Amino acid sequence: MSKLIVANWKMNGSLDKITGDLSFYSNNSSTNNSSVILAIPSIYLGQAQQLLEKYKANFSLASQNISQFASPGAYTGEISGAMLKEFDVKYTLIGHSERRMYFNESGSILQNKIENALSNQIMPIFCIGEDRNIRNKGSYKDFIVQQLELLLQVKADIIELVIAYEPIWSIGTGMVPTSNEISEIINLIHAFVQSYLPHAKITALYGGSVSGNNARDILNLERIGGVLVGGASLKTEEFVNICAY
Ligand code: PGA
Repeated sequence: MSKLIVANWKMNGSLDKITGDLSFYSNNSSTNNSSVILAIPSIYLGQAQQLLEKYKANFSLASQNISQFASPGAYTGEISGAMLKEFDVKYTLIGHSERRMYFNESGSILQNKIENALSNQIMPIFCIGEDRNIRNKGSYKDFIVQQLELLLQVKADIIELVIAYEPIWSIGTGMVPTSNEISEIINLIHAFVQSYLPHAKITALYGGSVSGNNARDILNLERIGGVLVGGASLKTEEFVNICAY
């Protein structure tokens, strides 16, 4: 199975960049591939969907967020799963550390988001990861398991899910865990799923300072299902190189 390469643009980009990059990616065999997923700001999803159709491109769109509310209503500023589905959004990031930190997302909010994604046939990319303090204290495995336990609250059959291990201390810092450190958590994720969600098909990604320099080694790790790329995904050529691995 080919590995997933997810670009997380965060609050970056412009209409010009979307138009330019999508045309470039459509014409490149490394990026014009169903395992390449672009999580762009939601306001550009309509434009991106039209470009995908125009270029008959094979890569997929992801949203960086989905509302915790399932039904339409008085939720100013929110975008529902059903709305995302209209733009052919196939994946959504849920639980990214920046959303946990700046928007206080945790517990039932994340649970509702996962349920809303699944009920709209949008694949959650559930992000987990410890901060530097927890890593130093040595309690990171317990912490990761606690974050994974949220999945057991989800009131929907989890048949398939993407889980991204993104240690907060490596996001945007250039500090990448060692191969052993990454593998330890990827194995932990698989072991957790095997024990508690034995029927679920899980793809486990690594994210945090992934670049053209380290992507090949990370993607070669056993059981790694792909990478989640932030900063480097904004550099068009570098992202193509990452996808080429
Ligand atoms: P980074 O971000 O690649 O810039 O470290 C990754 C992410 O936050 O998803």
